Amino acid sequence: MATTTGLGILSPENAEKRTEILELLEQAYWMEIETVMSYVANSINPDGVRAQEIRESLEEDIQEELGHAQQFATRIKELYGVVPGSKDFAAEQDALQPPEHQTDVVHVIKGVIEAETGAIEHYNRIIEAANEADWVTQDMTIGILHDEERHRRLFEGYLRELEADRVA
Ligand SMILES: [Fe+2]
Ligand SMILES: [Fe+2]
Repeated sequence: MATTTGLGILSPENAEKRTEILELLEQAYWMEIETVMSYVANSINPDGVRAQEIRESLEEDIQEELGHAQQFATRIKELYGVVPGSKDFAAEQDALQPPEHQTDVVHVIKGVIEAETGAIEHYNRIIEAANEADWVTQDMTIGILHDEERHRRLFEGYLRELEADRVA
């Protein structure tokens, strides 16, 4: 059981907890990096009138997701970890690969919702793991979780609108 007395998460007796948190932070870092790649592509690829709003929205998110990657990387270092090199990267975002037709905006929106959902699930995991062990990681991740919840809600709205149009 980790303790928050003395040096807290930086205490030698919390080494095991630190390793656990570092692994979670590393995964979070890669998720953000991959999201940056996916959002760059999807802020440029989509074609058509309905694509405009989505492209602009994703373009804004790129900076925010990059900021998240930098926050996770900084925290890795603070916990005596090393930010991994690019050769350790393994892509996972199947749903955010380019659609067959670039006018298929629904494909992009669903991919974004899936990525944001994955981030929300993983960050909730970090917040749980850091509880009563690492307040700073917990506080930082809560802030990032808030951003992802906002992103997910925004794209749910886009999807709702497009699906309503289809029915009409
Ligand atoms: Fe993010
Ligand atoms: Fe996000």
